[in-house]
Parts: sequence; C-alpha cells; structure tokens
Amino acid sequence: MKILRAIAEVRDAVAAARTSNQTVGLVPTMGAFHEGHLSLMREARKSNDLVVVSLFVNPTQFAANEDLSTYPRDEARDAALAEAEGVDLLFAPEPGEIYPDGFATTVHVAGVTEVLDGASRGIHHFDGVATVVTKLFGIVRPDVAYFGQKDAQQVLVVRRVVRDLNLDVRIEACPIVREADGLAMSSRNVYLDAEARMQATALNRALDAAHALHDAGEGDAAKIRAAAAEVLRDAGVSPEYLELRDAETLAPVATTERDTLIAVAARVGAARLIDNHTLRSAEPRGDA
Ligand code: PAF
Repeated sequence: MKILRAIAEVRDAVAAARTSNQTVGLVPTMGAFHEGHLSLMREARKSNDLVVVSLFVNPTQFAANEDLSTYPRDEARDAALAEAEGVDLLFAPEPGEIYPDGFATTVHVAGVTEVLDGASRGIHHFDGVATVVTKLFGIVRPDVAYFGQKDAQQVLVVRRVVRDLNLDVRIEACPIVREADGLAMSSRNVYLDAEARMQATALNRALDAAHALHDAGEGDAAKIRAAAAEVLRDAGVSPEYLELRDAETLAPVATTERDTLIAVAARVGAARLIDNHTLRSAEPRGDA
C-alpha cells in the first residue's frame, strides 16, 4: 500500500490504473479506523481493481466548539489496518493540500442539510462535508464511493451533491456496524468512560424499542417516537434530537407509511453520539 500526500500523486496513480481499464473505489474517512471503516474497505476491495482510502480530518466540518483538536489521530495504526484490508492507496494530505491559501468555494446543499445534524451542529457541518467530498471525488474520480449508513443524513447529502452536480460516481451506503451490545461503532466511542459506555447502549436500545413497535404494526410516528424516548429517559440520556423523518427526503412524518428514518443524537459523557434505524414500510426488519 502506498501512502500519498499530494493530489498530483493520487491523480497519477489513478490515471495509471485507468490506462488498464481498472475500476476505482474510494472510501472517504477521517481515520481512527474501527470495524465500520474496515467493512467499507472490504466492500470496496470486493468490487474494484484499485481501492483508495482518504484519511483527512476535515477542519471545515467542525464547529469552533467541537472536537477538531482532540479528534483521535493515529495514522500509523490506520495505515496498518488499511494495508491489512488490501487497500492500494492511502491518501493522507495535510490541510494545506486540500485548502490552499485563497480557497474560496463551498458546496452547499439545501433542504436535507437543514434538519437533524444540520440543525444541531450548524450549517457549516454539511457544507464542510459536501465540499470536501466533492473535492475528493474530483481528485480520485472513483467509480464507486463507500459511506456508512450510521451517518444516514450524510449519505443523503452526498447523493444529492452527486445528482445535482452530475458527478459520475455511484454511492454505496453500507450497513451500520455495531458492538456486541448494539452500540454503533464510532471513532468518538473512545471518549466514553466505563459509565458513559454503558449509558451509550441506550441509543440503540431506544431505536430497537421503536423498531419493535413499528414491526408489531404501529404506524403512528408520535407513538413510535415515545417508545424510544422512554428508553432514553430511563437511561438518563437527553437527546439533542430524536426524530422520525422520511428516509429519502428527511421531511417530517406523521406515520411510517413510507420508509422512515428514526434518528437520534445525544451527548453521553464526553462524546456526542448519533445512531439511526430505517423503519421499512412493507418489508420485515433487517437493516438496523
Ligand atoms: O464520515 C466521515 O468520516 C466524514 O464526514 C467524511 C465523509 C470523510 C468527510 O470528511
């Protein structure tokens, strides 16, 4: 596996692969790899000739009061893990390579960015994500890019960018990878001390309760939300948001007639955690 710092080196390596008609898969990441990231790399490895992983803690998607300076970073560990998954190129640029002096462009997606994490973290968050992902697509020009469904709203934002800007890349959303007790894997789980780690299981337990009620035939969004809220309350977790929204548009819903995302964000100990389930309108459960 090669570790590349410069955009020009990435372009050269991808161009060389393209001359022999190789397909290119991209896994955009901010590092601090866990099984969730590795599952994306495995998926990319299965279906592409050249697998590129980007490792860049993107400053523009963090607010001033967020954890940019403390975000877990261990490039040597990440590189070893990526190499073990058969990744070909690890693109790990310095911030100045991505945002040189004079950088002045922002990709802003309206609508789906304005609720949930967009409302909670601020508009800069998805502007930062959309901008850096668009840049990564321009640099790598992948056939397929892989994202985790844990960041369900991010997946919708990226799909909207691809559709609206006619970018020639297919977006693959891969299932959430969970710890044995159901906690969704996240780089931020390292912030949890033992007590908070226990409390954090309430997020998925709350979503499970909602999911079970939905699967038992309840279609009223308020009742389903209430079942989840009760689990959070019992665990002493106050959500930043706990909402049911249309799984494609993120419009508010009164019923689960169409596929519905139930999404939660909460501060637990020192970590801000997010999680979600998709409540399928007709099919039985299977993709939590
Ligand atoms: O999901 C992430 O790790 C980041 O938001 C991404 C997509 C790599 C953009 O910085």
